[in-house]
Amino acid sequence: MCGIFGIVTEKDQPLGSILIEAARRLTYRGYDSVGAATISGSRIDLRKDVGKVDEVAERYHFAEMTGSRGITQLRWATFGAPSQVNAQPHLDSDGDLVGAHNGNVVNNVELRQQFMAEGMTVRSHNDGESCVHAVERYIDRGYDFIEAIRRAYQDLQGDYAYVIGQINDDKLYAVKKGSGLVVGIGEGFTCVSSDLPSILPLTRKILRIQDGEIITLWADRVELRSVTDGRLIEREPERVTETMEAVQKGGYAHFMLKEIHEQPQVAREVLHRLAGSAEVDQALAAIRNARQVYFIGCGTSYHACLAGSVYFAQLAGKAVIPVLAPQFIPQYLPAVNRQDVGIFVSQSGETKDVLNALQAAQAQGMTCLGLANVIGSTLTKATACWLPLCCGYEISVPATKTFTNQVVTFLYLAYRLAGKDDRPLEDIPALMEQTLSAAESQIQAIVPAINPWNDMYCLGYGATYPMALEGALKLKEITYAHCEGMLSTEFKHGPLSAVTDNYPVIFVAGPQDVPLIVSGINEVTCRGGRAIAIGQEDSRLRANASDLITLPAASPEISSLLSVLPLQLLAYHLSVERGYDPDFPRNLSKTLTVD
Ligand code: AGP
Repeated sequence: MCGIFGIVTEKDQPLGSILIEAARRLTYRGYDSVGAATISGSRIDLRKDVGKVDEVAERYHFAEMTGSRGITQLRWATFGAPSQVNAQPHLDSDGDLVGAHNGNVVNNVELRQQFMAEGMTVRSHNDGESCVHAVERYIDRGYDFIEAIRRAYQDLQGDYAYVIGQINDDKLYAVKKGSGLVVGIGEGFTCVSSDLPSILPLTRKILRIQDGEIITLWADRVELRSVTDGRLIEREPERVTETMEAVQKGGYAHFMLKEIHEQPQVAREVLHRLAGSAEVDQALAAIRNARQVYFIGCGTSYHACLAGSVYFAQLAGKAVIPVLAPQFIPQYLPAVNRQDVGIFVSQSGETKDVLNALQAAQAQGMTCLGLANVIGSTLTKATACWLPLCCGYEISVPATKTFTNQVVTFLYLAYRLAGKDDRPLEDIPALMEQTLSAAESQIQAIVPAINPWNDMYCLGYGATYPMALEGALKLKEITYAHCEGMLSTEFKHGPLSAVTDNYPVIFVAGPQDVPLIVSGINEVTCRGGRAIAIGQEDSRLRANASDLITLPAASPEISSLLSVLPLQLLAYHLSVERGYDPDFPRNLSKTLTVD
């Protein structure tokens, strides 16, 4: 997820250190490149490159940048590889406009063609540059800035926000469509940013911007206009009183809850990133030609491997071996060779168990690909081809959004391998939103019934089996209850003896497996147990389960992905109910760099 920040002051002054600090405070969103631009009279000073904020700022001497207006941007590559030219901000054709964006302009490829055909100078493949040219197009046709932004808004499809300024002026402009944007109002300056952490050290007087609003920032005032008809919008600034930590949680009580609710947005990001990605083509070619494919990870990332292997078999007829990383060496290494392919999956990219397996596999000549969230991590450096999870920082120890994006990535790869039309996957973000909003109250309603128990089961079958394992892991991790994840059909082979009055057993039901799940439910309820089903509305589940947490209608594979969201919420609410901190469970660490 990219981040933008812009500031307008009364007169030329050193802005470099303000821009560096603002960029540092956006790093939690995740990024691969950094840039800054200052405008002083008729001069634009633009410096940018791939790398960490402090490295790039030092290499390009950001600290010495001066001007009356400044913009900084952190880029997480979507359109165009991470490179100096694709880093933001961007100039227009003749270099008198400069701007940067956050989000995705989904018709970027078509727009670039149009801009070039119209004679504009297009320097990068990045969609942030398209925002600048989209405004330039109408400025050049004689429209004033607000009118140019209004017209550009019609041309730029997708979810984004951008900030832009012109030489020989005293203003910056910004617009919001789908991506976050907040304005800060200080003494002798105004600023705008993707998020509050970069604004709050400067001022606590803020304006929250809505979609479809254009902001004009002067040093001493701001003006909001509707993009629809250009009319002025009146809004009183508010004063932020929360601590910085509370602000970073975005109004949620915990990072985990915030990250659970970020899943629709990051799923959208990763789907944009995967479409047309050269690394996807490379990974698919390797998989197609492989003698044997392994998906390798630990903990939650292993559950994503398991889900991926089910999708590959069910959708593309491709058998893949999912492996817990430490078991790869004793069980599979003796049998692998150069014709085999491994996808090594890790949120952190630093898990020692995964890196050990990777090193051993590489030594054996196996083709090793990566799937990681942290750019620059050891896994991303050690694999020639890797796919980013595009989740930004995941702060909470229990993985949530990185798990679902791992699963979305495997689902996308399975669709592509099968040659299936992948457009149905575009519904995932909206379906996740529906799932979360429907599940919240249903989950809270069953927490009191589960809370007295420190022992329970979570069962699934087929593509919901990995989700049951993942739900059980979340419950163990943050509620300190023992919850065993299991294949639903195995329950009768022994564990059924645990069932007593009200004993909780969670069933994750795929829409195609309802009859089988209903049998399992009855084995529990007829012995007095409480069978909690998670599945699509279905009269058979409704009639047989003690509780039904409903999922929206979706294909079986998408439904299995959605079913993990109520499980995450259940673990979260049960943990909070028990008075624990779900973000930092006892004894655990986010990154396990030890054997
Ligand atoms: C999940 O909630 C855990 N924090 C843990 O199982 C984690 O998934 C595992 O340690 C692997 O981490 P990685 O994805 O960073 O490799």
